[in-house]
Amino acid sequence: MVTQILIDGKTNVYGIIGNPVSHSFSPNMHSNAFRHVGINSVYLPFPIEQSDLPQVLESFRVLGIQGFNVTIPYKEAIVPFLPEIDPAAKILRSVNTVKRTKNGWKGYSTDGSGFLRALQEKGVNPVSQSVLLIGAGGAARAIALAMVDAGIKELHIQNRTKSRAQELADLILKRNRKIVLKINPKDIKCYDILINCTSIGMDGISCPVSDNLIAASKQVIDIIYNPSLTPLLKKARSRGIDCDNGIGMLLYQGIEAFEIWTGEKAPIEVMEKSLKKSLEFQ
Ligand SMILES: NC(=O)c1ccc[n+]([C@@H]2O[C@H](COP(=O)([O-])OP(=O)(O)OC[C@H]3O[C@@H](n4cnc5c(N)ncnc54)[C@H](OP(=O)(O)O)[C@@H]3O)[C@@H](O)[C@H]2O)c1
Repeated sequence: MVTQILIDGKTNVYGIIGNPVSHSFSPNMHSNAFRHVGINSVYLPFPIEQSDLPQVLESFRVLGIQGFNVTIPYKEAIVPFLPEIDPAAKILRSVNTVKRTKNGWKGYSTDGSGFLRALQEKGVNPVSQSVLLIGAGGAARAIALAMVDAGIKELHIQNRTKSRAQELADLILKRNRKIVLKINPKDIKCYDILINCTSIGMDGISCPVSDNLIAASKQVIDIIYNPSLTPLLKKARSRGIDCDNGIGMLLYQGIEAFEIWTGEKAPIEVMEKSLKKSLEFQ
C-alpha cells in the first residue's frame, strides 16, 4: 500500500465536468483512491457551460487529461461528441465516465450498475418489485434499465417533461415487453421502492413528490447525496420509512469508473471512508 505520492511533473489529471459540480464528493474519493493504490494522479472539478462542451473535450485532449466523469446536466449532451461509446451506454444515450483512448475518448455508463450494487449490498432483491422512478434524465435512464434487467415487475415513471418519460418508456419496452409500465401516473399507489432521480432537493428545500406518495411507499431512495438528507428523505424518515441517499450509488459507480480508467482493483474501503469524511465536512 502506497500512501505517499508526490504531485510532480508526471502527475496525471482526471476530473468531473458538469454544472454545478461544487456539490461533488468525487474529487476527494478518487484522489484518495489514486494515492492509496500508488497511482500518480489527481482528480479535479471542472464546472463548464454546455456550449463549451466540444472545446472542453479538445482542451482535455491537448492537456493530456486521462479520464473524467460527467454529471448534471451533460450525461446525454456529451454523447454526440464521443468517438466511441460502450454498447450499454449507447443504448442508454447517457455517459457518466469517459476514458482517454488512442482514438480520442470512450464513454461508459456506471450509474445503473452502481445503483444496483448499492441496493444489493443493502440486501434488497429487486425481483418482482414495483418501482416509482421520478425523473427521466441520464441517471434515471441508467437506473431504470438496470432495475428492469434485475427483474422488477412494475415501473412507473414520473417526469416534468412527458416526452422524455415516453422516450424512456419506449426504451424499456424494447428491452422487456412484459413489464407493467405507466407514465406520470395520477393515482396514489403503494410502491415497493420510490426513487428520486431528479435534481429536485439539491437545494435542501424542494421535494419532487407529494406527501401522500411518500407515505404510500415502502422504501424511498434519493440518489442525491449532497445534502445527505433531502426534504424527500426527511419526510420519509419522519414516517418511519426505510430510506437511503445516493452515497452508496456514488461509491459503486465510482469504483467501476476507477477500474475502467486504471485497470486496477478499486480500494473500496478507502473510497467509502473518503465519502464519509466528505459527509462530515458538509
Ligand atoms: N448518487 C450518485 O452517484 C448520482 C449519480 C448520478 C446522478 N446523481 C444525481 O441525480 C440527479 C440527476 O442527475 P442526472 O445526471 O440524471 O441529470 P439530468 O440528466 O440533467 O436529468 C435531470 C432530471 O431532473 C429533472 N429536473 C431537473 N430540474 C427539475 C425541476 N425544476 N422540476 C422538475 N424536474 C426537474 C429533469 O426533468 P426534465 O426531463 O423535465 O428536464 C430530469 O428528469 C442529480 O441531482 C445528480 O446529482 C447522483
